Amino acid sequence: MSQKHPRISKAVIPAAGLGTRFLPATKATPKEMLPVVDKPAIQYVVEEAVAAGLDDVLMVTGRNKRPLEDHFDRNYELESALANKGDAERLAKVQESSDLATMHYVRQGDPKGLGHAVLCAAPHVGDEPFAVLLGDDLIDPRDPLLQRMIEVQEVYGGSVVALMEVEPEQIHLYGCAAVKPTADSDVVQVTGLIEKPDPAEAPSSYAIIGRYVLDPHIFDILRRTEPGRGNEIQLTDALQQLTQNHSATADAAGGPVHGVVFKGRRYDTGDRGDYLRAIVRLACEREDLGPDFRNWLKRYVAEEM
Ligand code: UTP
Repeated sequence: MSQKHPRISKAVIPAAGLGTRFLPATKATPKEMLPVVDKPAIQYVVEEAVAAGLDDVLMVTGRNKRPLEDHFDRNYELESALANKGDAERLAKVQESSDLATMHYVRQGDPKGLGHAVLCAAPHVGDEPFAVLLGDDLIDPRDPLLQRMIEVQEVYGGSVVALMEVEPEQIHLYGCAAVKPTADSDVVQVTGLIEKPDPAEAPSSYAIIGRYVLDPHIFDILRRTEPGRGNEIQLTDALQQLTQNHSATADAAGGPVHGVVFKGRRYDTGDRGDYLRAIVRLACEREDLGPDFRNWLKRYVAEEM
């Protein structure tokens, strides 16, 4: 593969949203810390970044940031208690999250939107392309998406978003992309973007999901982006600007925008229904818990439903 563009090494994980869909659980705990089986959702996301070769991780946190930082830090008291008991298995589990990646944190004082959260990463990221992984979006590790997006960015340059086809009645929950095909069957060029459109206005059924590989030019655009839908600074609005810049002049800074069409398994752990589905599915597939849990689930469905 050609290496025309700098290799991506940094991941940014916005985790400063209010998580209102999950109240009251998220009153004092970030939603990203809610457990999916026995690991907080955010650990799956950091593991995904590391699996894609990104071990410099910047987390954008807000209020209630302590549990996030503590989870990826050492806990000497717990470690020595487990070591004294000779419980090597649990000790390894405790140490796993602190050994995963080089973690950095920046605080988004006011949750002014996803675009504003990404802008908070500008001083850390500098002038290189970088990945953004939403802390509440869980991509099944068996369906690697981020690696493919990085490959696509290396070949096409510019920025890359992740797209998933959704039912028309679901599109108002997402950013939606107008697209045209490329020579690669899983890659489209994005010609326009609209945040949470009414189904009648949606240019396609392609929804943007929570993975991005962004050109650093996005920061300049975000600085000029006015609050949009929900009075928040929307990343989708800045990306829309990037698609328009690029169509205006062939070599405009920051463009083009491509989309990788994802057909794998993905859960929005910020949504209660999807969160429950993620837990049931991942628990069923676990070697240690799966056999017992599946048997119980079968009986439950047969007898109670
Ligand atoms: P959501 O749209 O899910 O919003 O944010 P939210 O506030 O977290 O949750 P609800 O809708 O109130 O339940 C998408 C992603 O953007 C981050 C969130 O943490 C989440 O990962 N985000 C959003 C920020 O980091 N800062 C913001 O100002 C807004």
